[in-house]
Amino acid sequence: MSPEVKPDFLISPEGLRIDGRRTDEMRPIELKVGVLKQADGSASIRQGKTYIIAGVYGPRELHPRHLTLNDRAYLRVDYRMATFSVPDRKRPAPSRREKEISMVIANALKPALFLGEFPKAVVDVFITVIQADGGTRCAAINAASLALADAGIPMRSLIPAVAVGKADGKLLVDLGDEEDKYGQGDVPMAIIPNTEEITLLQQDGSFSREELREALQMGINSCKYLHELQKEALKRAYIKKTPDNGDDIEDEDDFDDDLETDLGEAELMEGE
Ligand code: CDP
Repeated sequence: MSPEVKPDFLISPEGLRIDGRRTDEMRPIELKVGVLKQADGSASIRQGKTYIIAGVYGPRELHPRHLTLNDRAYLRVDYRMATFSVPDRKRPAPSRREKEISMVIANALKPALFLGEFPKAVVDVFITVIQADGGTRCAAINAASLALADAGIPMRSLIPAVAVGKADGKLLVDLGDEEDKYGQGDVPMAIIPNTEEITLLQQDGSFSREELREALQMGINSCKYLHELQKEALKRAYIKKTPDNGDDIEDEDDFDDDLETDLGEAELMEGE
């Protein structure tokens, strides 16, 4: 393989990025729910060349016992990169970066979950990055949130996440690996879309107050778009097909109503 060469510019004179995207354009995204038959819930995401699978087991008995929380379930997230996920072989031992990203992902997901429903239990979220090409923590949140919904963990909302960065002085959504490496910084973020509550906000590089405000707004817009894709992926997995003609037997509108009813009940539970 030829060694990686630093690109001459990240934004062309026409204002386009190295892969031809506009500054506010996400990479192509493919979300799938129920990709692992053995897990209680699962999902995969392809975001450009980044490819990640998330599997959820639980709620189940927690080992080791000393980690038990008496009033809620413990959300245990394990983010790992496969050894073949990057061009330089990734060392198999868990790195400090992987441990930190696992914690950051758990913190981003927790505010949406009713973990108080399952005291003393654990909900295990295993995330494997199969191919890394930038933005893996955010793509992992997008997939893990869907996997938790697939496992039937009660939640207020799905959580979408995206990184907004800066290159050649311009703000860009959803950085690819080269933009991440050679750009001037990035701000990964996750939100609860209905309330715009921010559940993840990190910053690498320096941004002026005005840039940060604009980056947040671009991120919120992209997260809302991602949220629609997440809901569509859930619908595709749960709207049943008839065996003979493949037509939907459950109407999409009914599914939306059911989803809203479930979320309504969940909010009620939170108020109790
Ligand atoms: O992936 P994310 O942007 O959330 O995290 P990062 O730590 O900013 O890493 C950015 C990118 O660097 C990853 O997505 C990978 O493409 C690459 N990387 C790598 O090539 N080798 C590593 N050991 C870690 C990251």
